[in-house]
Amino acid sequence: MSTPETATATPARTAHHRRYLMCKPEHFTVNYSINPWMEPANPTDTAKAVAQWQKLYDLYLELGHEVELIEPLAGYPDMVYTANGGFVIGGRAYVPSFYYAQRQGEAPAFADWFRANGFDTVMPEEINEGEGDFLLAGDVILAGTGFRSAGDSHREVSEVFGREVVTLTLVDPRFYHLDTALTVLDPVIGEANGGPAAANIAYLPHAFDDASRKALEERFPDAILVSDEDGAVFGLNSASDGYNVIISPRAKGFEKQLRERGYNPILIDLSELLLGGGGIKCCTLELRGALSERSETKGGA
Ligand code: ARG
Repeated sequence: MSTPETATATPARTAHHRRYLMCKPEHFTVNYSINPWMEPANPTDTAKAVAQWQKLYDLYLELGHEVELIEPLAGYPDMVYTANGGFVIGGRAYVPSFYYAQRQGEAPAFADWFRANGFDTVMPEEINEGEGDFLLAGDVILAGTGFRSAGDSHREVSEVFGREVVTLTLVDPRFYHLDTALTVLDPVIGEANGGPAAANIAYLPHAFDDASRKALEERFPDAILVSDEDGAVFGLNSASDGYNVIISPRAKGFEKQLRERGYNPILIDLSELLLGGGGIKCCTLELRGALSERSETKGGA
């Protein structure tokens, strides 16, 4: 474990190759409200949403990552938030079962995409919203509940992947998915190296109940604690490759904290997509496994 000395030194960080699934927000709008950010009375600008999303897409490619696309379905304005489209580890995809009727029609499209792309596709029995509420941190799955994914989905996801699950209860309706209140900063290095997992996280303490905060403090003593101010601009809804951390330009304090820890924050503004209650991470589903061999050969070229 790190001593105070090593904790204050700037550790060397390494970027790791990522493969993501995204969905262009061609049909983006806010015409219903299923979270406190969504105000159907406020106008949305689909072209602006697409332009902002495109910057994120282009950045991932610039960083050397691979991005797959799923066809946007008309009538499903929230489909841009692909993090809710599944949870994928080792080529196996656990399909979501959305809490709200407005999004339920997205699930079959994601299931079809996984099957067509060679994933071992597991249909759910329990309500769950994919990587919005499940985050892989080292060898364990951090699982959110309280607003969307049901507690029983935590047992199910544990069985599907044969991994330990840490249940975290969300208590602030603005932070209704785990990925709005917590971000995993480091890659999964435990398994790859045959050693214990060493993942670090950043989170917004007040978004969790006391028991969950305690669990986080015990498991992640070096975590970055993010201010309410940075949390409120969706600073934690970010994507990290282990070195580059894509965050909202409005999360000033978090940007500084990341730099101090040796990460490279890159600012991408998705203000239009925030009108739907989503940000960078919401628009990004990590695809672990299946075709990763192919990507490694490509990356090495
Ligand atoms: N409007 C969407 C919903 O409420 C936003 C989803 C955000 N996704 C996320 N992974 N946090 O379902």
